[in-house]
Amino acid sequence: MAGSVLSPLILHGKAASPNEQIRIALIGCRNMGFGDLKNAIKQPGVVCVALCDVDEQILNSRCSEVEKLQGKRPETYSDFRKVIDNKNIDAVIIGTPDHWHCLPFVYACQAGKEIYVEKPLANSIAECDLMVKAARKYQRIVQVGQQQRSGPHWIQAMEHIHAGKIGALRKVNIWSNFNYGIGPLATADTPVPAGVDFNRWLGPAPQRSFNTTRFHGSWRMFWDYGGGLMTDWGVHLIDIALWAKDITTMPLSVTASGGNFAFPDHAHETFDTMNVSYQLKDYLINWEHTAGTQNGPYGRSYGLAFIGNDATLVIDRNGWELFPEWDEQKKQPKVPAMPKQSGGESHELHMKNFLECIKSRKDPACTIENGSLVARYAHAANIALRTDSRLVWDEATHQFKDNAAANALITPVYRHPWVLPVV
Ligand SMILES: NC(=O)c1ccc[n+]([C@@H]2O[C@H](COP(=O)([O-])OP(=O)(O)OC[C@H]3O[C@@H](n4cnc5c(N)ncnc54)[C@H](O)[C@@H]3O)[C@@H](O)[C@H]2O)c1
Repeated sequence: MAGSVLSPLILHGKAASPNEQIRIALIGCRNMGFGDLKNAIKQPGVVCVALCDVDEQILNSRCSEVEKLQGKRPETYSDFRKVIDNKNIDAVIIGTPDHWHCLPFVYACQAGKEIYVEKPLANSIAECDLMVKAARKYQRIVQVGQQQRSGPHWIQAMEHIHAGKIGALRKVNIWSNFNYGIGPLATADTPVPAGVDFNRWLGPAPQRSFNTTRFHGSWRMFWDYGGGLMTDWGVHLIDIALWAKDITTMPLSVTASGGNFAFPDHAHETFDTMNVSYQLKDYLINWEHTAGTQNGPYGRSYGLAFIGNDATLVIDRNGWELFPEWDEQKKQPKVPAMPKQSGGESHELHMKNFLECIKSRKDPACTIENGSLVARYAHAANIALRTDSRLVWDEATHQFKDNAAANALITPVYRHPWVLPVV
């Protein structure tokens, strides 16, 4: 089994590379993973030595692109276990669909690789728990791809809230409206495209025939591989809601309502319409999404509105702004007005932070615990609606209290020969 032999270097928690160069590999090359890789090899001292994908066409074209970018052709693999077993690789980027994060991640931990893993951390609560255990047991440097954690305007807004500048924070409203959340138009199953190892793409997920609507990109809208907008955007945005109050625990309860109300000719199982409420001790996190639309509050299709006693702070990737409350007695705003603060994408900063942490051995901006906690929040919401339940999490057992139907959705059943790893 990949990674069953631990080198002494791993036990000391050090990077495996004998020199300063970081030799990186990408598993899952089509979209986000490749964006991550490009950001990595832009940095000095980083070289891509291997690519892995189960779609030959993607693998070959990405390989040529990497060769053009860095002047050196990486090795190519279709089996990620060969990447893990390759001793000349220091770090891996995991850019596979969500159902394929956990296994490569745990094997990579066991083999002493550092890991940039895309979000959501995994496609189930049990896998998230396992991945935290593996990362800490094998002392790996892990960055989870919730890149907002490295974004200057997100950091600045969090500092503003932490400094009490919107007053006591009691509630956050989060919305996420995207057309893609309804999936593509439904189509009939077809033969597997040439050059695709579909059995390997399915991996631990149940066996089924090939359908393009459940494949590249649109797998997100099917429970076997993803959790729809709730997990895809939920982990990005709910992560900020947790950061604002430095929350490290599951909510007291989760309730969810909604369903699949629209676009029956589109291919999706995940909910197109959904409202979720997370009850915490002194804080309410409200989530809503309406897939198939792109409008939302404050003229933003997605965002967060942090409601403090003295002001509301509204933020998305483009920036943030403040809406002060009015003080009736003093006849003035409760906090000074501020100009809009501009934002931007933070993928490259997030990758740079990961690479710096490989050298410093510090925890990166988005820790495995951050990634795990928010993925569990998002999965809990889907489970609440799938089982029509108000869910209460029991930290002692890592199960929901008195709810067998919900607990049955915590751990995925892996398809033979894949087995959920034991850490
Ligand atoms: N951080 C962000 O802003 C952001 C944005 C988009 C996607 N993502 C995340 O990135 C991940 C990938 O999403 P995507 O949009 O790139 O998906 P995608 O379907 O476009 O690409 C996934 C790639 O993984 C490959 N793959 C599947 N199984 C494999 C296996 N066993 N071994 C090797 N390769 C395999 C596929 O062939 C495909 O090339 C997801 O977890 C997604 O949530 C993050």
